Amino acid sequence: MKLSVIGCGYLGAVHAAAMAEIGHDVIGIDVDSAKIEALQEGRAPFFEPGLPEILTSARDSGRLKFSTQLSDVRGSTVHFVAVGTPQKKGENAADLTYVDAAIHSLLPYLAPGDLVVGKSTVPVGTAARLAELVEATGASLAWNPEFLREGFAVKDTIAPDRLVYGVPEGEAGEKARAQLDEVYARALSNDTPLVVTDYATAELVKVSANAFLATKISFINAMAEIAEVTGADVTQLADAIGFDARIGRRFLNAGVGFGGGCLPKDIRAFSARAEELGRGESVAFLKEVDAINLRRRQRVVDVVVEELGDSPFEKKVAVLGLAFKPDSDDIRDSPALDVAVQLHGRGADVSAFDPEAMANSAKRYPQLAFADSADDALKDADIVVVVTEWKEFRELDPSAVAELVNGKIVVDGRNCLDAVAWREAGWRYRGMGRP
Ligand code: UDX
Repeated sequence: MKLSVIGCGYLGAVHAAAMAEIGHDVIGIDVDSAKIEALQEGRAPFFEPGLPEILTSARDSGRLKFSTQLSDVRGSTVHFVAVGTPQKKGENAADLTYVDAAIHSLLPYLAPGDLVVGKSTVPVGTAARLAELVEATGASLAWNPEFLREGFAVKDTIAPDRLVYGVPEGEAGEKARAQLDEVYARALSNDTPLVVTDYATAELVKVSANAFLATKISFINAMAEIAEVTGADVTQLADAIGFDARIGRRFLNAGVGFGGGCLPKDIRAFSARAEELGRGESVAFLKEVDAINLRRRQRVVDVVVEELGDSPFEKKVAVLGLAFKPDSDDIRDSPALDVAVQLHGRGADVSAFDPEAMANSAKRYPQLAFADSADDALKDADIVVVVTEWKEFRELDPSAVAELVNGKIVVDGRNCLDAVAWREAGWRYRGMGRP
């Protein structure tokens, strides 16, 4: 099929490359000419395992092109809208400027029978509002939320764990479904579960999935807070409750909390939309979820300051990790970066290192000191803080690290280190929600 993808950020770039990889002809569009140039050359504009490989193979096949000219969508029959919906400045609600602009500017190029497919995460009600505009051109609109996780984005796009189509009623809906079935023929032939539904349900599936995941993380972090005052161990607690298949162990890792470009802004936008709908109380708990999450960043900072005898001034703090999670260079709403910045603000001499997120962090916070390597960050450190669980940090040898530092104190903000091994090597180990 001939597809266009409007917006080549994390979502769009991966979607465009993955669709070409599975055999479609794809044109990716973005207003950012530097990004388009990189993509055209087969370079990923951000760190995502597996993306450079499929960008080059798709480009070499001739099936993947990129452009800054929206008119290049002409000839495509299915148009994916994958632009960002960031949090509005100073408000909880989602900023729909880019989605609205993308749909409006697409209208002149739509031909009757075309399908516009929204992939962006939007407040419920957006698709119904935009459908009228699209239908006036003889095209149809579907909403097909994306559940990709950064770090696994290529796999999640080529082999998703489920597909959701929000389609209009009647014949237009049938046609939209058939068009999407053709786009996703490969995943469907592998028995990927499919839910075909209305616009509102499709929009809500996405935000409620993210709200559930955020709640699960904040639940275990709330238990960590209780563990901290009772001497209990939240990691053992998570293991024990996780054996109950109804609960499950995944997304029960307590620590510095969640960040990234999705979970934080999505729960806030959901609260804002529920309030507009007069149902604010239905998701009032998401405010608690957000508050618990933000308290955990503070907790890591407090533990570090406490371990430094309440005087962090000019103490060397090695901060290991800046990305919001491993295998990503994304620092949007990153708890790790937040901890580094807060410690710097408290007068500590922070030396930060991340395998991939250094350039993005330095651009955002040039006042932070960045080390060239983990060893460089650790050299002469009075305390070590691990805030992103990169494999490189999880596998640090505590005896070797002990040779580098000035003070053998480690704060494990992700509960990702082997506490016994670190203690045996002579370290004072502080986990989150662990004795
Ligand atoms: C998330 C959703 O998982 C994905 O389905 C959706 O499409 C986009 O948002 P992503 O933002 O890539 O994906 O990250 P995710 O793996 O969900 O992690 C989010 C945050 O939660 C990270 O900061 C991570 O470190 C944190 N987390 C995750 C925990 O603190 N504990 C856990 O147990 C799991």
